[in-house]
Amino acid sequence: MVDDSMNEQITIAVVGSGYVGLVAAVCFAEIGHRVICVDNDESKIAMLRDGKVPIYEEYLPELLDRHCNALIEFTTDLHAATQRAQAIFVAVGTPQSQTGSADLSYVDAVASQIARSITEYKIIVEKSTVPVYTNEWISRVIERNGVPRELFDVASNPEFLREGTAVVDFLHADRIVIGVDTDRAGNLLRAIYEPLTSGKYYQSADAVPGVRTTAEPPPLLQTSTKAAELIKHASNAFLAMKISFINVVSNICEAVGADVEQVSKGIGSDERIGPKFLKAGIGYGGSCFPKDVAAFRYVAEQLGIEFGLLREVENINAEQKRRFFQKVRSALWTFRGKKLGVLGLAFKGGTDDIRESPAIDLIGQFVKEGCVLSVYDPAAMERTKQVLPPSGNLTYAKDAYEAASDADALLILTDWQEFAELDLDRLHYTLRYPIVIDGRNLFDATTMIQRGFTYLSVGRPGAVQTRDAAISRKLP
Ligand code: UGA
Repeated sequence: MVDDSMNEQITIAVVGSGYVGLVAAVCFAEIGHRVICVDNDESKIAMLRDGKVPIYEEYLPELLDRHCNALIEFTTDLHAATQRAQAIFVAVGTPQSQTGSADLSYVDAVASQIARSITEYKIIVEKSTVPVYTNEWISRVIERNGVPRELFDVASNPEFLREGTAVVDFLHADRIVIGVDTDRAGNLLRAIYEPLTSGKYYQSADAVPGVRTTAEPPPLLQTSTKAAELIKHASNAFLAMKISFINVVSNICEAVGADVEQVSKGIGSDERIGPKFLKAGIGYGGSCFPKDVAAFRYVAEQLGIEFGLLREVENINAEQKRRFFQKVRSALWTFRGKKLGVLGLAFKGGTDDIRESPAIDLIGQFVKEGCVLSVYDPAAMERTKQVLPPSGNLTYAKDAYEAASDADALLILTDWQEFAELDLDRLHYTLRYPIVIDGRNLFDATTMIQRGFTYLSVGRPGAVQTRDAAISRKLP
């Protein structure tokens, strides 16, 4: 936490207390600013006032506890928050509409409400992921509500937070992007991030640990507002493209008997490519990549620019799930009545978020085929029960071993570290047949064969245990 006397304290309103808004609000308080977090959901605000965190995110409970009722407050009153704040960050949802474009109706509504409360200079900052030109629309909406141009600026400050590590990503950012079209807006946004960019934050003994230090603080990149809007969409689209690329390469690896992990390492060692986001699996999910790839494609289409590459990224992602489904079918022969243990529901490890999770999609398909599933996830069980209620065909296990108990095969659908650390002998003993089909390549294939499993993964040579060896491991 930054000592208030060390930097300029700015009053910030953050509108929207979802993943992005709540993390930003808490982190702004952590770097010493006064923050008013606004949401129109009264029950959520009541919960936050009580210090309860509605999402699963590392460090968030500790930081909320540290700043609640001191530097951060929660309210449903957008009017009062706008009047008090110098900067208003808009972090409301921009869901995908039927055409694939981003639905900006929440941003529009919030902009009108903010406009009605502006009596002195404010900077309105887009924090939600929005298509290029949104800043111009927000300006138009505010002006239509009678606010003179000199009383406000609209800026873009995209976030690059990953769920599960959002607090660390914020406080130890690779880069901070501010998109501004006036010096006044640039100065205010630079002052907001000054505790990070100057390195002061990292001097504090109770600073959240991470890669950034006083000597190596995060760089700040100032661009035009439109460029900042594009940076966000282009970054997510590029990362999704990297994943789809390696997924196709993994399919080629499977066909020729090569190991995609070795190929990833080989290509990722080239500094121009980089090793991250080259992990083959069952496709990307989450609330960002699927929505942002579609929205960016739509932006291009509207501008008359052909971006077929993004359509292909989406097709490959869908195909990757289909291939996994087929892999399970070919391992089990038939589905009806087969018992499957399933590890992982969240769209990735370290989060309770199941939005667009490949796991949820696949589970739905296996249930439809007549399989009996016992599923387990360290964090996402409650959320999943809301969309897939327990039934005769679908039960929720208390741990990974219970999910595996007496199963015809065990499927790994989310990359939780907890799964990678399972006791393999216990797992082997628990399963009816020692078959593990790993959609996230969590285990070393050679180890799995040595431990007596039939082990299938993604883009790596399959390993089928001989019948005798498999059975002998079951003997006491
Ligand atoms: C993503 C971006 O990584 C963030 O920079 C961005 O701020 C965020 O979207 C957003 O726009 O808000 P997130 O959706 O939390 O963050 O998740 P990622 O860690 O990027 O993973 C996305 C999906 O790709 C997951 O399903 C994950 O399992 C999959 N993935 C990721 C792979 O299949 N392979 C990889 O190598 C990496």
